[in-house]
Amino acid sequence: MAVTHIYVCTTCKLADEAGFAAPDRAGARLHRALSALASEREAPVEIIPVECLSVCKRACTISFAAPGKWTYVYGDLPADTGADVILDGAALYGATSDGLIPWKQRPDALKRGVVSRVPPLHPASETQS
Ligand code: FES
Repeated sequence: MAVTHIYVCTTCKLADEAGFAAPDRAGARLHRALSALASEREAPVEIIPVECLSVCKRACTISFAAPGKWTYVYGDLPADTGADVILDGAALYGATSDGLIPWKQRPDALKRGVVSRVPPLHPASETQS
């Protein structure tokens, strides 16, 4: 199974976190929680911190991506309880050949939180040699 890249916006903050130091903001907390849980589960993912996915009003935001697959961006994910459902979704994403998780299989938080999907940079047939 190919590794799923999970980009996590570490600069996301909730409405009441304006005065919070960067490490205490929701996105940074979610990044730490995801990294810890992925390590504990030995999940085939790479957790990649990024500064802003341009979905700032829907904190916390993440993205799933992998070579030859559709990229998905999700928002409205809870910082302190979202890691579990994100890794469940990443496992489903990782099991697909194209990144398209059937709607009925998606965790509810990912159904509600989907922001966008972006086609693979190259069709899957061009990335295989
Ligand atoms: S600050 Fe998180 S998406 Fe912009």
